[in-house]
Amino acid sequence: MRFFIDTANLNEIREINNLGILDGVTTNPSLMAKEGITGKNNIFAHYKAICDIVDGGEVSAEVLSTDYAGMIREGEELAEIHEGIVVKVPMTKDGIRAIHYFTNKDIRTNCTLVFSAMQALVAAKAGASFVSPFVGRLDDISTDGLDLIESINEIFLNYDYDTEILAASIRHPMHILKCAEIGAHVVTAPAKVFLDLLNHPLTDIGLKKFVEDGQKLKLH
Ligand code: G3P
Repeated sequence: MRFFIDTANLNEIREINNLGILDGVTTNPSLMAKEGITGKNNIFAHYKAICDIVDGGEVSAEVLSTDYAGMIREGEELAEIHEGIVVKVPMTKDGIRAIHYFTNKDIRTNCTLVFSAMQALVAAKAGASFVSPFVGRLDDISTDGLDLIESINEIFLNYDYDTEILAASIRHPMHILKCAEIGAHVVTAPAKVFLDLLNHPLTDIGLKKFVEDGQKLKLH
């Protein structure tokens, strides 16, 4: 399973990347706005900085346009920034058409805002490199987001699509555990969720005892 971090914050990306467990980054317009990044030059420079941190990793950069021509123009420019860029396109009629266009141009894509298995199937047929089902946002409306991951996984296995499931809107470690059990190829989560994966109270208790007993060994 690959781990992507869902943030545009460079310090958070560095922190998780330094653990040696990071395979990529996903951003979206909300995450970019949270960092206070404005203007095309600054936005592009920020994506380049992210790509440089996760050397060899995949970095999803989302188009801001919602019309086909705008998505194509933006996506082609984004793809030029760095070889790690994956153009993130919303799940709409124009978005699917744009994904088909980018696929023919060998530009990788991430179809975002996926909330049904049928949307995922259409994105796969258009050639999306990734589909991003939003687990947490479905949970928020009392619908089990993990059921969607299971359904998409079953469909993709039936037909051997190359499209990878990028489980998004991940809120806590149980989401990652369940996605790993189902077989999602990638999860994208905030830094805190990855750090939470490291924790167990018995680890803390055990380490405290080892440290106390270690002092009796008088190494120094
Ligand atoms: O990047 C898309 C997705 O991961 C958003 O997550 O927490 O805003 O629902 P969230």
